[in-house]
This record gives sequence, structure tokens and C-alpha cells, in this order.
Amino acid sequence: MQSTRVELVRLTKDHLSGYFSLRSDWEIEKWHRPRPCASLQEAEEEMLGELSDVGRDTYAILLRHDLDPNGMDGWHCTKANDGSSVLVPGGFVGYIGVYGLLGHVAEVCYNIHRSAWGLGIATEALLAFTELFWMIYPDHNRLLGRCDVENPASGRVLEKAGFEYYDFLYADEFQPWMIPQARDSLRFVLVRPGYTLD
Ligand SMILES: CC(C)(COP(=O)(O)OP(=O)(O)OC[C@H]1O[C@@H](n2cnc3c(N)ncnc32)[C@H](O)[C@@H]1OP(=O)(O)O)[C@@H](O)C(=O)NCCC(=O)NCCS
Repeated sequence: MQSTRVELVRLTKDHLSGYFSLRSDWEIEKWHRPRPCASLQEAEEEMLGELSDVGRDTYAILLRHDLDPNGMDGWHCTKANDGSSVLVPGGFVGYIGVYGLLGHVAEVCYNIHRSAWGLGIATEALLAFTELFWMIYPDHNRLLGRCDVENPASGRVLEKAGFEYYDFLYADEFQPWMIPQARDSLRFVLVRPGYTLD
């Protein structure tokens, strides 16, 4: 699936180094897990666990290979953990996926490399992903998105991609590494085109 700047391809071990770049960044991990991945090996174990979960489906967000590098001059460029550039054609800028596929309503989650924040990449990837999701999962007519109340950027991405506010979950996550430890969340919902929420 391609959009103007990104392409989504199923996450595989080929993306491990980019995946590790994100999984080792505390500013990204703090919303989900108690500590960042400390090694490539640990990230690989996490990735393999994720890929073997039949209730999940995860895609790498790559910058399109046919992007003109000269057109990316204004983008602030940061190196990934392995020293390679992220904001280059084909660069791994994040990943996006769903979990809870075996349940009634799946939930989307996304993470973007810090050097690509604020460029609209998450919104573009989420728009492409939802299009893909409706195609691949014809039995799902709703998609949820959840964000911590202290993570307004994530909520804004959902809104920009057409999700609507659904409900407020009081202390639905207990995350001992955060302050406060009981985390409140906002949930958003997107309904398959042509369907209603009922
Ligand atoms: C949240 C995240 C995915 C956003 O990625 P991104 O590519 O920068 O997102 P976009 O550029 O598409 O949009 C971000 C929006 O949030 C807004 N935003 C950023 N920081 C904000 C803040 N503190 N308060 C309110 N809005 C904020 C931006 O202004 C932008 O909205 P706008 O276009 O209306 O100005 C990225 O910061 C990230 O990976 N964070 C860490 C992991 C995470 O939070 N994942 C989501 C959990 S499910």
C-alpha cells in the first residue's frame, strides 16, 4: 500500500535494525512498556513475539523508494542506531499495526522514529493503513484507536485520520514506570465507509 510519501509493507526481520531504533527510544517506549530495548537481540525477540501473534498484523512504514532526495532537503535528518539515515528514500520511519484481531474490535497502534515527528508521517501512514485494513479484514467494520490522555499528539493523529472520539477510560492501564501509575485513556473509533456505529 502506497501513499504520497510512504509505503506500508508487512514487518519482517529485514526491518530489525530500524525496529530496534524505535524500540530503544524511551520517548516512544514509555507509552507501552516499562523500559526500552537494550539490545538488538532483545528487539529481535520482541519482534518475533509480535510477528507470531495471530491476533496482530504489523507493517513497516517506509519512505517511498521513488521519493526525490532533493525534495527532502528541508527535513531534519537524524541517524538511526546503526548509523544509517532514516529520512531517505526507502528509510524505515516507523511501524503501524493492529492487535485484537481475534476479538470483536481491533485496535490500531503506531510509532514513528523521532527524527520524523511533526512531518505528518503518522497521519499519512494511518490513512493508508485504514484503507488497507478495510480491504484485508472484511469482517471488521470498526477500528479503535487509544491514546494516553497525556499523549495529545497521538490523539491528534487519530482525529486527522478521521477517527472520532468514542469514550474516556479511567485508569484502564496500570503502568508502574509512569507518574501517575494508573493511566487514563481516550478512545477513538473509525467506522468502515458506508457503515454506522450501531
Ligand atoms: C504520536 C506520534 C505517532 C505522532 O507522529 P507524527 O508523525 O509526528 O504525527 P503527525 O505529524 O502526523 O501529527 C502530529 C499532530 O500532533 C500534534 N501535536 C504534536 N505534539 C502535540 C502536543 N503536545 N499537543 C497537541 N498536539 C500535538 C501536531 O501538531 C500534529 O497536529 P497538526 O498537524 O494538527 O499540527 C509520534 O510522536 C510517536 O511515535 N510518538 C511516540 C509513540 C506514540 O505515542 N505512539 C502512539 C501510541 S498508540
